[in-house]
Amino acid sequence: MLNTFTDDYLDGLGCRDFAPRAKVSGRLSSYDGLLMEAVGLSLPVGTVCTVGDGATRIEAEVIGFRAGRTLMMNLGGPAALLPNAPVRPIGSPGEAEVGAALLGRVVDGAGKPIDGLGPVRGAGKWPLAGKLQSPLDRGRVLQPLDVGVRAINGLLTIGQGQRVGIMAGSGVGKSVLLGMIVRAAQADVVVVGLIGERSREVADFLETKVFGAARARAVVVAVPANHSPVLRIRGALRATAIAEAFRAEGKQVLLIMDSLTRVAHAGREIGLALGEPASARGYPPSAIAMLPSLIERAGTCVSSGGSITAIYTVLADGDDGNDPVVDSARSILDGHIVLSRALAERGVYPAIDLGPSVSRVMTDIATKDHLYAARVLRRHLATYEENRDLVLMGAYRPGADPEIDAAIACHPAVMEYVRQGADEIVTLPDAVAELTGVFGDG
Ligand SMILES: Nc1ncnc2c1ncn2[C@@H]1O[C@H](COP(=O)(O)OP(=O)(O)OP(=O)(O)O)[C@@H](O)[C@H]1O
Ligand SMILES: [Mg+2]
Repeated sequence: MLNTFTDDYLDGLGCRDFAPRAKVSGRLSSYDGLLMEAVGLSLPVGTVCTVGDGATRIEAEVIGFRAGRTLMMNLGGPAALLPNAPVRPIGSPGEAEVGAALLGRVVDGAGKPIDGLGPVRGAGKWPLAGKLQSPLDRGRVLQPLDVGVRAINGLLTIGQGQRVGIMAGSGVGKSVLLGMIVRAAQADVVVVGLIGERSREVADFLETKVFGAARARAVVVAVPANHSPVLRIRGALRATAIAEAFRAEGKQVLLIMDSLTRVAHAGREIGLALGEPASARGYPPSAIAMLPSLIERAGTCVSSGGSITAIYTVLADGDDGNDPVVDSARSILDGHIVLSRALAERGVYPAIDLGPSVSRVMTDIATKDHLYAARVLRRHLATYEENRDLVLMGAYRPGADPEIDAAIACHPAVMEYVRQGADEIVTLPDAVAELTGVFGDG
């Protein structure tokens, strides 16, 4: 009788399922604007916590622990925190929202939509750090990918599942080139990670480069430079996770990351804040070690038949061969496209410097005739560049060397082949036909 009464009573109160749960919270013991230390907490790395109360509340992520203290990094802006502010875990950020629900959307580093189109509904989940794959699951790169840029399609052919770097200084046309590729690439899905760029550029990239039909098949993860370094790294992981989930569905995905250097910068900020010793160029070892694990996640997948072709921009100002990001990117990537300031200054856009640029899989995916014509063009260009000063000074007498004569005669055609308007699309078959038509017979 009494039981019936209590059951009815509890039902009426609507708290029948109530189960007491311990509330975990700790206290902030130190804060220097970026790094925080909390005491009284035992949380796994990666947990997101709120720090403070009311209006001063911000979010922070656990990045490590030392001598019984939890180290956290601020995810928000500056905050007027007080000593001993409460620290409460609110969840693990270990998973990214993925899947078709994200198509056409723009999210930030934490996965929140920033395009004003409301919440993302019906998204799947994928671990931010990716699922570990056996190296044998990685197929070879055997199919070309049409990116709509003549010089790349014809001379630096990219394969489905290849990882390519665009190495360039600032302002030589990286964003414009990426925009051309986003619009024209023959991929099922394009995932764009805009990491550490200026906020103004993010809006500009979305409005002028990812619009219309290109937007419908694209997912953009945008984390501008003023966001916390933890969020910038999470943005890069999130973009990669989204691409991985599409690949697992068997889709041909194009992943574009602008820029890899800024991801490494974020890693540097975190590493230095944690007290890691700085080595090459102020980069702690962890910041550089992070790059291979990120890049290795792209590639083909044998079991699903899908692929992630990845294009990373790498900032390389001047001829700085010592930059550790450039160095390590060059060694892990399957090819790099170098943009040259000298060409841009001469008005040759896209300013692709063919000499040092290379696609390491081109021999596997291009036909013999195509490879032959590409080699002829490269040889003419190299001969011209070597003798350029002589020719321009008038010190070269025409007829002295047939090779140089041919290179001089071909040079306008070579430059014309590289040049392409930002709105123009040149398909792979057209680019190859044009190349073999002009340079096919030597
Ligand atoms: N294909 C092109 N045709 C004509 N002009 C171009 C082309 N590509 C680039 N430019 C010119 O170069 C300028 C810089 O290009 P872009 O913004 O793409 O450089 P960036 O390398 O992304 O620069 P940043 O390092 O600042 O991000 C453009 O504003 C434009 O004037
Ligand atoms: Mg740019």
